[in-house]
Amino acid sequence: MKRRFAVASLSLAVVLGLGTLPAVAAGTAPAAQSPDVDVTKVKAHLTELHSIAGRNGGTRRSTGQGYRDSVAYVKGKLQAAGYTVTEQPCTSGCSSGAGPNLIAEWPHGDANDVYMFGAHLDSVSAGPGMNDNGSGSAALLENALTLARQNPTMQGRVRFAWWTDEEQGLNGSDFYVRSLSSAQRSAITAYYNFDMIASTNGGYFVNHVTSAAAAPMKAYWDSLGLQPEENTEGAGRSDDYSFEQYGIPTSGYAMGASARKTSAQAAKWGGTAGTSYDPCYHRSCDNLDNINTTGLDRASDGIAYTIWQRAVGTGDDGGGDGCDTDPVVNGGFESGSSPWTGDTGTIGAHSGQSAHTGTRFAWLAGYGSTHTESVAQTVTVPAGCTRLTYWLHIDTDESGTTAYDTFKVKADGTTLATLSNADARDGYVQRTVDLGAYAGRQVALSFTGSEDGSLQTGFVLDDVSLLAG
Ligand code: TRP
Ligand code: ZN
Repeated sequence: MKRRFAVASLSLAVVLGLGTLPAVAAGTAPAAQSPDVDVTKVKAHLTELHSIAGRNGGTRRSTGQGYRDSVAYVKGKLQAAGYTVTEQPCTSGCSSGAGPNLIAEWPHGDANDVYMFGAHLDSVSAGPGMNDNGSGSAALLENALTLARQNPTMQGRVRFAWWTDEEQGLNGSDFYVRSLSSAQRSAITAYYNFDMIASTNGGYFVNHVTSAAAAPMKAYWDSLGLQPEENTEGAGRSDDYSFEQYGIPTSGYAMGASARKTSAQAAKWGGTAGTSYDPCYHRSCDNLDNINTTGLDRASDGIAYTIWQRAVGTGDDGGGDGCDTDPVVNGGFESGSSPWTGDTGTIGAHSGQSAHTGTRFAWLAGYGSTHTESVAQTVTVPAGCTRLTYWLHIDTDESGTTAYDTFKVKADGTTLATLSNADARDGYVQRTVDLGAYAGRQVALSFTGSEDGSLQTGFVLDDVSLLAG
């Protein structure tokens, strides 16, 4: 591939901000902003799932067409939004004829820092399963679509799951976790479960409410004044248990099943004491009338809050750890070239390559003749903010494993990382460099691409950021 001559683009700064809607009223909210998830849209998904049950004998049980159609509905929406979606057939431990799990990963952020959000998509045979568990399924679907629409810069990675055959013994989720390698299991920082989040006489329950994993879930409901309680009724009874068994931290929301509301709970949350949280639990009346819209809305927004708290970052991880403002300025190369110095003509929306996010990037080398190009900026590295990350696409005409053309990351002239044509890949790869040795100091960070005399290698750099170590 031959190289560009600069497309001078007086761009059009693309503003990739977070949602404009504060999650909750100012003053009571925890620090970070997250988008409002539209409960009308969540209910539209429920309506679709209800119609699917109606066309299939009034059920979405895992072994029937109602389940398969539910999978197809969720999958279609996700794919249209840009998700990589996988149907995972459950080949052991599931009921014979059970449909697949559905897994959708938002393909941005650190693949070794995965936050999973899951809900079972099957119902019991007796009914359409609107609260159990259309509610969790629909809330996760709309959260996934909201995340894709907002497209914030990701720090951690978000993976959604819709499980098969929960009602016969947590079988789909158990199969999934068993199928992972130990490395894949340890990449999951936390799993969040949503099962029965719209019970008409429900309470506000959080799984493992005092745990670290639960903190953002609890904080969101605390901010609404809901005083959530432990989900004792649901303990060990839904898909989070499959993850718990492998030592993965879990949490989630629930509003309760057949257990009865206490008078203290009725005093706190309203509703009827002495009556089940969900009077239609596992019955044919678990239909669209069996949905608590207010509860569903509060859970849907709390899921978004948790996603944003845990996995969204622009250098601001909201953690109050000294890393709340990205010390790297214009790390996405979207706003001109300042404060970058060096070969700033490499920065732009050049044709022939594309940005990781936004429209602009730095394209270092890529000529096919002897060239060296660098961009640099001086940053002060806060003590809590020492993980340098950047996204690099290495595009080469070289082959083999010999390093002819190189890319170096340097701090004050000392090389901290070297990559080459031998590391070329089709798309961007996120790379990390530990700047712990520079904590509390000012340092000149530079990125340099160097080519030998033939066969081009372009080093396309974007989204440079310093994150909490
Ligand atoms: N909904 C699951 C089931 O069908 C698990 C469950 C039972 C549950 N009780 C619960 C989930 C209470 C949340 C809260 O059995
Ligand atoms: Zn359930």
